[in-house]
Amino acid sequence: MTMREKIFAANWKMHKTVAETEAFFQEFVNYPGVGCGHGVVVFPPFTALAAVRGLAGAVPISWGAQNMYSKDSGAFTGEISPLMLKELGCAYVLIGHSERREVFRETDDEVREKVKAAHKHAIRPMVCVGETLEERKGGRASDKVVRQVSAALQGVPAEQVARMVFAYEPIWAIGTGLNASSSDAQEMCGLVRKQLAQLYSAEVAGCIPVLYGGSVKPENIAEYMLQSDIDGALIGGASLQPASFLSIIKNALGSRFSAS
Ligand code: 13P
Repeated sequence: MTMREKIFAANWKMHKTVAETEAFFQEFVNYPGVGCGHGVVVFPPFTALAAVRGLAGAVPISWGAQNMYSKDSGAFTGEISPLMLKELGCAYVLIGHSERREVFRETDDEVREKVKAAHKHAIRPMVCVGETLEERKGGRASDKVVRQVSAALQGVPAEQVARMVFAYEPIWAIGTGLNASSSDAQEMCGLVRKQLAQLYSAEVAGCIPVLYGGSVKPENIAEYMLQSDIDGALIGGASLQPASFLSIIKNALGSRFSAS
């Protein structure tokens, strides 16, 4: 069995004001076993990052931003730089979430620039990849995901790639309640890892956490965790309530959760 790091990440998307973030953490930090050292990460909106830094300090969890721009500073109205995220204690940044790619038309080139910028500032990039329903039905899911992985990494050296995290999130499973079957998710997460091995080495590919995302709930996490290439989850809707986010982590880790 692999000893790869397990990660459970909450992507709050455009949810939670500062007051709502405070309410979440007041409840969250009091759960026994929270911050059990198993890579719990919260991605709040930019406006709540400072509050998370103040509130999450008491437990060993990490936080990050849902997006950023690739430049350090400059005339880029409305954008947020990696330096600003560093100042707020962000250990992670989500890059290329499908909502960024689909709604805001973010390209593979922009994703790659952001990956490089994150590495420059020692922020750990969590890169999201995944196909639409149309692409899956048309038999193009694998091609799309392989292309997204390769495009995000052009010119990125192996020692930086080894610090990254990937999340396979099929677009048709996000927020729909229609989660991918564990075998489909395994196949695609395995494909991500195969591509990493192809581009770098089996050794590098073997140490990179690959997460599944898309309608993950306390009831379905355990089956994903049984798959050899799935190292955790990126969770949207079910991460908004402390109890359900914690149940996902608990059901994923089983006895290792209570032992920690
Ligand atoms: P849901 O868990 O709400 O399907 O969202 C998944 C997601 O997009 C996480 O980044």
